[in-house]
This record gives sequence, structure tokens and C-alpha cells, in this order.
Amino acid sequence: MARPGAEDARRAQAVAPGDGVPPPDASRPGPLRLAVLASGRGSNLQAILDAIARRELDARIVGVFSDRPSAPALQRARDAGVHAQALAPRQFASRMAFDEALFAAVDASRPDLVVCAGYMRLIGAAAIAPRSGRIINIHPSLLPAFKGLHTHRQALAAGAAEHGASVHFVTADLDGGPVIGQARVPVLPGDDEATLAARVLAREHPLLLATLQLFAERAVTLREDRVHFRGGATGPLQLSSNNAFA
Ligand code: GRF
Repeated sequence: MARPGAEDARRAQAVAPGDGVPPPDASRPGPLRLAVLASGRGSNLQAILDAIARRELDARIVGVFSDRPSAPALQRARDAGVHAQALAPRQFASRMAFDEALFAAVDASRPDLVVCAGYMRLIGAAAIAPRSGRIINIHPSLLPAFKGLHTHRQALAAGAAEHGASVHFVTADLDGGPVIGQARVPVLPGDDEATLAARVLAREHPLLLATLQLFAERAVTLREDRVHFRGGATGPLQLSSNNAFA
């Protein structure tokens, strides 16, 4: 650490407490504390890490938690110097016991918001209820269409002209919680699951970042099962081509 020189000493004196310097603004919230749950690849996690590093998102990841010890997402967290922890479900007697242990670890990191980013395990209602409004999930479809798994396959089979991704509050209703924001992509002639998944994923990352920035600004809440946006906007918000909400 650099030792203070004469100039620093003068500056320190100039801002001594009680010398007319305004106190720090206590009403200004600090960076949003995020706990991320991920089961696999972790590209959404990486998008968050990168946006924080570029100072484009006023947030901090306080822990990454997984139900799969081999999840590449854990290594991405460690590479970024973020606490990473996995719990193996088979070591627990029940879903509830697993959830209790997982969320005890999550709670210990004191998150403002829990982000399910490719977390593939069902979370029991008992773990969701006390965290209502503080857990969100990114799902690769335009909810309420195509809940569950294999959403790109479902969209192709249905002949959908449009597909996309949604970020929603997690409730006990699987993939059924109130939607905060969406990003839309066209389904193109000749698409297969892989090409469609890639087109959606490219929009998932900016969608998640734009949504997290709303939380960082304390501009979105869940009240009585409805999403409330500061400024009175009604959702779901739609991500525009410049990666901001329209
Ligand atoms: C994403 O498509 C996400 O929407 C879904 O699972 C995938 C996870 O991707 N829930 P990654 O692990 O973030 O790369």
C-alpha cells in the first residue's frame, strides 16, 4: 500500500470530519449482493461476472452454489475469486433436507437477491416461501409458453414464429411466477434446436443483466403476486435491440 505523502496529508486534513464535508449518503444503497445458483455451464453467471468487472452492473456476487459438484459454473466463480460451493443431493434424505442445507449456505452469504441461472433442480415450496420476491430465474422461453425442459424443441414442434427468454420471480408454481422481463428472437426457416438455442442464449445474457440492473437500482419488487416497477411501468418489460428495456 502506498504511504501517504505530504499532498495526501493536506488532502486528508482538508476533508477532516466536521469540516463542512457532507456525510456519506446513507440513502444510497450499496452494490446489490447476488447469490447465484447454477447446475452447469454457467454462461449466464459469466455474463454477470463480466458486467460487474466492467462496472456495467452495480452488484457483487457473494456466492455461487450448485447441486452438481462438477458444474463448470463453480470453476468460473473460483477463477473470479468468488466463493463457490456444491452440495450433492444424494447425501441428503429428502428434497427438503437438501434445500435447507443449500439455503443455509446461501443465507450465510447475506444476498439481497438469489439468481437461478441454469439451476436445474426443483426448489421446494418451503424454501421458496420465506424468500418470496428475492429469488428470480431465467428461463429459455417466452413464458407462459413452453415451461419445463427442452423449450427449444417445444417451440419448434409447436411451429412458433417467435421464441425467446424470460426472467421471472420464482414461486412454488414451476416456471409460473410473475415475469419481469423478456427478450424475443425470431424462429427462422431451417432452425434446429442448436441454432435456436444459440440465438436465444445470446439474448439471455443481456436480458439477465438488464433485469439485475433494475434490482440494483431497487426499481422492481414483487407485491401480492404482481411485479411492480418504479415509475409505474407495467410488465413484462421487453428487451430492445440496444439491450435496454423498451
Ligand atoms: C440457460 O438457457 C437458462 O435459461 C436455462 O439453462 C441454461 C443455462 O445456461 N435455465 P448457462 O449454464 O447459464 O450457460
